[in-house]
Parts: sequence; C-alpha cells; structure tokens
Amino acid sequence: MNNCKLKNYCKQQKCDFRCYPHTILHGVDGKTGLWKTRNVPKRYDDCFLENLPPIDPPQTRKAITDYINRVTEAVAQGVGLYLFSVPSKDNPLGTGNGKTTTAVTILNEFLVKRVITHLQGNEMKSNPVFFMEMADFQNIYNAQFRGTRDNQEYASEVFYRYKDRMKKVELLVIDDIAIRNITEAFMNEFYEIINHRVNEELATIYTSNEPLSGLVEIFGERIVSRIEGSTLQYPFTGKDHRRKEWF
Ligand SMILES: Nc1ncnc2c1ncn2[C@@H]1O[C@H](COP(=O)(O)OP(=O)(O)OP(=O)(O)O)[C@@H](O)[C@H]1O
Ligand SMILES: [Mg+2]
Repeated sequence: MNNCKLKNYCKQQKCDFRCYPHTILHGVDGKTGLWKTRNVPKRYDDCFLENLPPIDPPQTRKAITDYINRVTEAVAQGVGLYLFSVPSKDNPLGTGNGKTTTAVTILNEFLVKRVITHLQGNEMKSNPVFFMEMADFQNIYNAQFRGTRDNQEYASEVFYRYKDRMKKVELLVIDDIAIRNITEAFMNEFYEIINHRVNEELATIYTSNEPLSGLVEIFGERIVSRIEGSTLQYPFTGKDHRRKEWF
C-alpha cells in the first residue's frame, strides 16, 4: 500500500528514495524523515481532514474545517487554538471526544502543505511541526533529577533539545496541557516556551480537559493570559468514542 502522505498531491506515484519530496517527508527508508520526527503517536498517522470525525458541537467542526482550509496562512499569522472538553452527563470527564484527533489532523495537514511550499521555494530549515504531550514533557524534565549522574546529564540534554524545538517550531501541538502537580521550576521552563512563542507570533495548538478558566489554578495568570491572547478557543462536547459499546 502506498503510504506517502503526499500521494494526493502528486502525479508520479513512485514513492521511494528516488523521489525527493517522499524522502524529505519519509526518509530514505520510508519510515523516518519529517513524518517520524513530528513526534505524533502512531495511531494518529492517518488523521487528515478527509477522515476527521463529526465533532460536537457542529460549530466547532465548522471552525476547525475553516482553519484547516487556510492552515498555511493561519500558522504564518500565529493563530493558535485552545481545544477543550466540556463535560456532560454522558461524558463527565470529557474524554475521547476528538481533541487530540483534531489537533493532529491540523498538524498533519500543515506539514504536508508546508513541504509543498518548501518545494516551491519557501525554505524550511528544520521540521516545521512538533507534537508534545504535556505529561511526557514533565517526565522528561523530572528525569534530569533522577538516576545516575550520566543519566541525569543525558536527560538534561534531551530536555533542552525538546525545549528548544518547542520554542522555535512553526506549529507546536501541546496535548493534554492540564496536568497536576507541577513545580515552580518546571512552570518557569514552560513559561519561557509560551512567552517566546507568543512574542514571536508562532502558532500553538493546545488540547485540554479544562476550560481556560480552570487552567489559572494550575499555571497562574501569567501563562494563561498568554494562551488566551494567542488562541481561538473551541469547546468539545461529544461522547467518549473510545468506549466500546457492547449492547
Ligand atoms: N466524533 C467522533 N466520532 C468517531 N470517533 C471519534 C470521534 N472523536 C474521537 N473519535 C475516536 O475516539 C478516539 C479518541 O479520540 P481522541 O484521542 O481524539 O480523544 P481526546 O478528546 O483527545 O481524548 P482525551 O481527552 O482522553 O485525551 C480515537 O480513536 C478517535 O478516532
Ligand atoms: Mg487527547
């Protein structure tokens, strides 16, 4: 099966290392390249607008579709999104209603379009997208203070590499931002990333199980006001689609 994510835009259909665009996106072996280093979990590999599920409420679905249709412009203008769940009786925790799917769909669509504009001459120095789950970022941070000295040094290098990418990438997705138990020191690192991105007008998409008002308690006004000022906020009210229906 042809898995090249550029296939809908290409007449050649010779998708291997002999094709330059394929190699940029998927590496010489077809398994690496920008697609791999965007850092998205494998199960969101095929998230594109053409298979985006019917999100609730429909106004959110419509706004997301409009954003994707103008994704190159939206990202260039630094327009971010805050995608949050609104709990209901059917779905009291607001889980599994399509927030990560939506965020990755935007990231995937942007990356494909960005590779095309790169081929047309709009230079791209490094991967223009990056996905980071907030809990993973916190774990990477904490690893700097655990284990042997060598392990700590290695963890520190990894942390600062990720942090640098999160600061500079054209489009960053931060998944499940509303984590608990964050320390003052970790919050300062996070603030530096957000502050830099807002000042440089770089687009960030957040997913969250909390509305923005609920984030204040976790991160404080300094961070939340920056997120608020740099994003459009859309609620997700659907049921949990992860749950199997047996009856
Ligand atoms: N509206 C929908 N219709 C059908 N399937 C959906 C819909 N929304 C999400 N799904 C599916 O449900 C699963 C969970 O979706 P996703 O990971 O996007 O949820 P989420 O809102 O990020 O959840 P969480 O808050 O737990 O992180 C995925 O397999 C996704 O394909
Ligand atoms: Mg999610």
